[in-house]
Amino acid sequence: MSEQEIGNGSADFVVVANRLPVDLERGPDGSQRWTASPGGLVSALEPFLRSRKGAWVGWPGVPGVEVDPFSDEGMVLYPVTLTAEDVRDYYEGFSNATLWPLYHDVVERPVFDRGWWESYVKVNRRFAEAAAQVAAGGATVWVQDYQLQLVPSMLRELRPDLRIGFFLHIPFPPVELFMQLPWRAEIVRGLIGADLVGFHRPGGAQNFLWLARTLVGLEPSRGAVGVRSRPGMMQVGNRTVRVGAFPISIDSAGLDSLARSKQVGERAAELRRDLGNPRTVLLGVDRLDYTKGIDLRLQALHELLHEGRVKPEDVTFIQLATPSRERVEHYQRMRSDIEQMVGRINGEFSRVGHPVVHYLHQSVSRTELAAFYSAADVMVVTPLRDGMNLVCKEYVACRHDLGGALVLSEFAGAAAELTSAFLVNPHDLDGVKNALEAAITLDPAEGRRRMRALRRQVLTHDVDRWARSFLEALGTETTS
Ligand code: ADP
Ligand code: G6P
Repeated sequence: MSEQEIGNGSADFVVVANRLPVDLERGPDGSQRWTASPGGLVSALEPFLRSRKGAWVGWPGVPGVEVDPFSDEGMVLYPVTLTAEDVRDYYEGFSNATLWPLYHDVVERPVFDRGWWESYVKVNRRFAEAAAQVAAGGATVWVQDYQLQLVPSMLRELRPDLRIGFFLHIPFPPVELFMQLPWRAEIVRGLIGADLVGFHRPGGAQNFLWLARTLVGLEPSRGAVGVRSRPGMMQVGNRTVRVGAFPISIDSAGLDSLARSKQVGERAAELRRDLGNPRTVLLGVDRLDYTKGIDLRLQALHELLHEGRVKPEDVTFIQLATPSRERVEHYQRMRSDIEQMVGRINGEFSRVGHPVVHYLHQSVSRTELAAFYSAADVMVVTPLRDGMNLVCKEYVACRHDLGGALVLSEFAGAAAELTSAFLVNPHDLDGVKNALEAAITLDPAEGRRRMRALRRQVLTHDVDRWARSFLEALGTETTS
């Protein structure tokens, strides 16, 4: 497909997400370059869309820039412009200071602001119009995530010929929390514009069906109750809307083969050498987000060191933290708390040249990340709530040597699949400490048994399988 054609309704398969898979970065000298966008949505969807040669409608990550559509290794990217006010009100405001905390169990208090809501409606309409322009007659359009929950209905009004799917990458909240939202009925009406609404977990699908009945008066069709991975159904006028659970995953084979490469093996060994070959390397990899429980794991480590259950000369903890949503107040507070804790642990327990905690507030490349995963004896994933969490699956995909141990929060969607991990309740600090200690002192044979089971799950349930199962349920793809 040529770049001229893309704006003229020629794409048969279109992803619509708040962000493009690449972010425009501007240097102080006015230079521009594209970098990979942060977050799990992009990590998961990008390899799939590339193989599909589809179109991706999204924001290039900086306010106020107008960029023409362009091709990027098999995909055609269609940038949507957000002004500085849109970024403040729709993105930082309604998406990330209202919906994000509300959908993550109110870990922080959501802010309800009428002006932000108006901006959310306006920007959702812009994305719907862009998708309507890009999509060919009868095309499949797959709308992604909480930033764009009004797009399905807006798009259907503009283009009733399209097949529309929606997938939520974050948890769908318990009904009592969702009911706090002043615009709850509008959100449900927005979502039921899709032919298929997908969640990570069956509980999310059930909550949504209940809300659609209560707030919009829709009746589930027979067979909708007890939705597991098979979709339930609702009647919306003369249309059927399907609702179901589709746990997302990663490009498992791609990461497995990257981790087997000589380059990654050598870099992993080099990392351990650079750390002074400690007995145990613990690793955390997250966007710097208050839902991820980074503070909890640091607190657990601090207490273990304090109690002498872990010796500072034996362990090194590496925390990679991608900068995220840095202008939102919740994030600023959390960052300074975490940095204080890192300083405190290092102040009390480090020796010259051997800090106990290495904290990197930066993004690393995929190859470098695979080397970190390969070098880590214990992967620590402790979110208070997470839709899925791809980091834990990435760690498992990199451990072809069957080494390493995974400590994983029960409140990550992935816990339902990765049952051979050390599962913890992150609110139970003693439980987290015990799990860390057990993982650090794990018998190697038992470790291999656990890792084998984890890998069986991750390698057989990859992102391609996820996407195909969603598109099959949407009715645009048949099993091959
Ligand atoms: P979320 O989508 O909430 O950020 P996930 O765990 O689902 O959480 O996905 C995070 C993605 O971001 C993963 O693909 C992970 O590899 C990537 N990532 C997180 N931190 C870093 C980092 N410091 N450098 C590079 N990639 C990172
Ligand atoms: C999560 C969300 C995505 C989002 C990503 C990064 O994965 O589900 O929709 O893109 O975090 O967050 P950001 O606000 O930087 O896009």
